[in-house]
Amino acid sequence: MVSKRSSHTVCVLGGTGFVGREIAGELVRRGYSVRIPTRDRRHARALQVLPGVEVVSADVYDENALLALFADVSSVINLIGILNERGRDGSGFRKVHVELVEKIARACQEDRVPHLLHMSALKANAETGPSHYLRTKGAGEIAIRNLAGDELHYTIFQPSVIFGPNDSFINRFARILQKTPVLPLAKPNSLFAPVYVGDVARAVCQALENHHAYDRSYQLYGPDEYTLKEIVAGIAKELRLRRKIIGLSEPLSRIQAWFFDYVIPGKIFTLDNYRSMAVASVGSEDGLAALGVTPTPMVAIVPRYLNAGARQRALSGFRTQSRR
Ligand SMILES: NC(=O)c1ccc[n+]([C@@H]2O[C@H](COP(=O)([O-])OP(=O)(O)OC[C@H]3O[C@@H](n4cnc5c(N)ncnc54)[C@H](OP(=O)(O)O)[C@@H]3O)[C@@H](O)[C@H]2O)c1
Repeated sequence: MVSKRSSHTVCVLGGTGFVGREIAGELVRRGYSVRIPTRDRRHARALQVLPGVEVVSADVYDENALLALFADVSSVINLIGILNERGRDGSGFRKVHVELVEKIARACQEDRVPHLLHMSALKANAETGPSHYLRTKGAGEIAIRNLAGDELHYTIFQPSVIFGPNDSFINRFARILQKTPVLPLAKPNSLFAPVYVGDVARAVCQALENHHAYDRSYQLYGPDEYTLKEIVAGIAKELRLRRKIIGLSEPLSRIQAWFFDYVIPGKIFTLDNYRSMAVASVGSEDGLAALGVTPTPMVAIVPRYLNAGARQRALSGFRTQSRR
């Protein structure tokens, strides 16, 4: 599986995901070879066409599998993260955001990988985080800092919500708005500074093997701050949909989260998600600027993929109406 030793190979855990695909593309453009483990090779279809990308079926919870994956790499990028757990006691989040991160850092040490880059989240805090998601993301950061030293350096990224073609945030609201004339919106005044996935990928690649980025954390956020209601209203306007967006009060927001968590299957909005939104997902130290990346505003990117998606839906609508 792991073939030749090369100092120009980067292992990207979680590389099949939304952010990972963008980072893989950026790494390939910069001349790196990329190794991406996956639980299911079908998740990596879009990556197979990229030259220099090796997709490996692996169980990343198995320490020996990690050692094999990292044996000849110059850096490891960890993007594995979850927004929802199966239960509700935080143990699912802990397994992915803390225990797995410790295993990854230890395997880096054992394989003498000098640099571990890790994707956390803005406002992650092991103590004061209002949700399991934010507390475990914070605990994962502490685990990495504790294990790092002269042999293993870390770079931690703390992004706000990330947008770009194939994101789940903007596209999910676009789909909901297509279906309903009235949208009762929980936590309408929650603040975000959405950051473009292409900027996140550039920031991560700028930090790679960059001694100035060793043992530092970077907040990644976009140039503009919006409330959730402003974002959703902007999506409706861009799609030319006349929709009534009703911002719910705090108690009604909580009831909606409870209802989606306990009654509706699929965990599209949980109490833990609701709790995460208690803190503003906006930053104060510009990590993109520190890494030499100019932030891209939402207005420059979102209309393009929203309208492309809408055109696609309109075309498929024609297709279903067509008798041919
Ligand atoms: N997207 C955002 O707006 C945002 C905002 C802040 C922070 N972040 C953080 O950025 C990172 C990347 O986010 P993303 O949006 O690209 O996530 P994503 O699309 O869900 O991708 C995550 C990848 O990790 C792997 N993965 C997921 N759950 C796993 C599990 N339980 N065990 C092992 N592997 C698992 C999956 O790979 P396979 O299925 O191929 O194994 C998946 O492709 C995450 O750590 C996330 O918390 C994202």
